Amino acid sequence: MKLLITGGCGFIGSHFLRKTLTETEFEVVNLDKLTYAGKLENTVDFAKNSRYKFVEGSICDKNLVDKLAAGADVIVNFAAESHVDNSIENPQIFVETNVLGTQILLDAARKHSLKKFLQISTDEVYGDLPLGSTEKFREHDELKPSSPYSASKAAADMLCLAAWRTFDQPVLISRCSNNFGTHQLAEKLMPLVISRALKNEKISVYGDGKNVRDWIHVNDHCSAILKILERGQAGEIYNVGADNEVANIDLVKLLLKILGKSEGLIEFVKDRPGHDRRYAIDSSKIQSELGWQPEHVNFEEELKKMVTWYKKENF
Ligand SMILES: NC(=O)c1ccc[n+]([C@@H]2O[C@H](COP(=O)([O-])OP(=O)(O)OC[C@H]3O[C@@H](n4cnc5c(N)ncnc54)[C@H](O)[C@@H]3O)[C@@H](O)[C@H]2O)c1
Repeated sequence: MKLLITGGCGFIGSHFLRKTLTETEFEVVNLDKLTYAGKLENTVDFAKNSRYKFVEGSICDKNLVDKLAAGADVIVNFAAESHVDNSIENPQIFVETNVLGTQILLDAARKHSLKKFLQISTDEVYGDLPLGSTEKFREHDELKPSSPYSASKAAADMLCLAAWRTFDQPVLISRCSNNFGTHQLAEKLMPLVISRALKNEKISVYGDGKNVRDWIHVNDHCSAILKILERGQAGEIYNVGADNEVANIDLVKLLLKILGKSEGLIEFVKDRPGHDRRYAIDSSKIQSELGWQPEHVNFEEELKKMVTWYKKENF
């Protein structure tokens, strides 16, 4: 099978490429624009694999996408502007890449009758849940995105579902919770905390720090994506999560404990506008229908391994 992966030089895409090249016989083309978030370093360990090819370019480049789609069986779309804070500063690029880019990929996939199109979406499209409730996001919950980032991802999901309904295009959507692991850019919470703490710099925590995120190891997200590619049904949405809700402040304290640093480094700062309070994802559908399970579920042990990697990388 020939996969066209987009955004494979980013955090999750690079883990997915590594896993796919190790665990399958698939041939993979990685189309990545190498924005500030895309790093060739993330792909060095498999860049010379004979089943791997890198193409520098944008998912918004119609001609390039058309040419690459012509040689593929499947598209997996990771490419996105992914940082909520940036979307508050500059929403337009989020619409260009996350919405227009997805439509360009969908059109090319349809033109060349690709067997599958998997959109890598996020639980953030559902908005947020009240703190202290036991509710969890289900696949057919209303979409209520809070930020320009999550709104652009929700729009892309809608375009995928419309392609399924209108053209019978074999589209699948995964919606995963917050990922953690190695190779993540230091703009995101965990690597940011680690990098600042290692330099004994202050660590900013938004608002009261009680916002809850549902964390999953990046390799568990990637195994879910492979499972969806293998067994998922066209037109379906699959939530992916590991039932691991943690308040931001507790996470920061846990990372500081692992790093042997003082909680005195923490400073509370003005809350992010529109800051989602709680995410919690119900992933019973992918577990019961596709037989997927998260494996990296000892959170503290996985955090320790991750911290060791960031320290070694001289991050
Ligand atoms: N990080 C998470 O916790 C999380 C959770 C759920 C879903 N997701 C989704 O997973 C996907 C990957 O997230 P990530 O955290 O790895 O993001 P990332 O920011 O680390 O990587 C994004 C990659 O996309 C590339 N890219 C950006 N614009 C492009 C364009 N126009 N054309 C081609 N490539 C382009 C970048 O160069 C980069 O390599 C995103 O779609 C995101 O919405 C992320």
